[in-house]
Amino acid sequence: MSYNLLKGKKGIIFGALNEQSIAWKTAEHAAAEGAEFVLTNTPASMRFGTIDALAEKYNTIVIPADATNTEDLENLISKTMEHFGGKIDFVLHSIGMSPNVRKENAYNDINYNLYHQTLDISAISFHKILQACYKMDAINEWGSVIALSYIAAERTFCNYNDMADAKSMLESIARSFGYIYGQEKHVRINTISQSPTKTTAGSGITGFNNLVDYAEMMSPLGNASADDCADYIITLFSDLTRKVTMQNLFHDGGFSNMGMSIKGMEAISKGLSEKK
Ligand SMILES: NC(=O)c1ccc[n+]([C@@H]2O[C@H](COP(=O)([O-])OP(=O)(O)OC[C@H]3O[C@@H](n4cnc5c(N)ncnc54)[C@H](O)[C@@H]3O)[C@@H](O)[C@H]2O)c1
Repeated sequence: MSYNLLKGKKGIIFGALNEQSIAWKTAEHAAAEGAEFVLTNTPASMRFGTIDALAEKYNTIVIPADATNTEDLENLISKTMEHFGGKIDFVLHSIGMSPNVRKENAYNDINYNLYHQTLDISAISFHKILQACYKMDAINEWGSVIALSYIAAERTFCNYNDMADAKSMLESIARSFGYIYGQEKHVRINTISQSPTKTTAGSGITGFNNLVDYAEMMSPLGNASADDCADYIITLFSDLTRKVTMQNLFHDGGFSNMGMSIKGMEAISKGLSEKK
């Protein structure tokens, strides 16, 4: 169902790799709500994934950019403004990658060069995007910027590794930049803490399927899917949420406020009785 919530709004969507990507779903929902957007990803991800098909479907362009590279970002923003003939209204940062996770380096045996890369790709890139937009005055008043986080930013989840540190930093950047951008330009900045979701990035975490099952058992509303997440993002890009900023917003079916559920209890007692 469409409500035309984003009619006339224009934006940049980072991170659509393939049909599973949260950014991909967001692009689809944004188009349905009347938005226009430019898509972007790294050149390698563009080759590996299927972003061109998404661009074709919505008659838009893909501008390659590595979100850790400030020159790439400036080029992306200026080309986007050229494309639209003016400023934008929303930005989605849907970017995450840990080379330590990829190489299965344990958190207590981390490679520090890779640790820097994790932070640069998954968190500092958010600052770089915001700073470039701010300096180039690329976002209209009451514009909205969203990045995607995970509850491991605040509580320990085994195997989430250095991505937990990156997500903590990401959420902090939303608060620190949100203050400046809000006060000076009325641009709002939030993070969404999303349920575990079966995507390429998600599946990189060891034991990810068990984590999905666990979260499903613990969440009264069940896990939020990528489509659900796209719906939530649309509301935050819309004019209906103009006074929401500097927040980390849980979108997880209630998981973050649970301690133990009946389903969880049953699974544990079943596991324990099988062990005896
Ligand atoms: N999948 C989950 O369980 C889950 C849960 C909570 C939060 N998130 C977050 O959602 C976001 C989107 O991930 P997803 O699950 O849709 O997976 P995904 O693999 O589809 O998307 C990750 C994207 O990051 C892009 N990327 C990596 N390095 C980049 C760089 N240097 N510059 C620009 N882009 C780069 C990849 O090309 C890819 O498109 C990530 O921030 C992820 O951490 C995911």
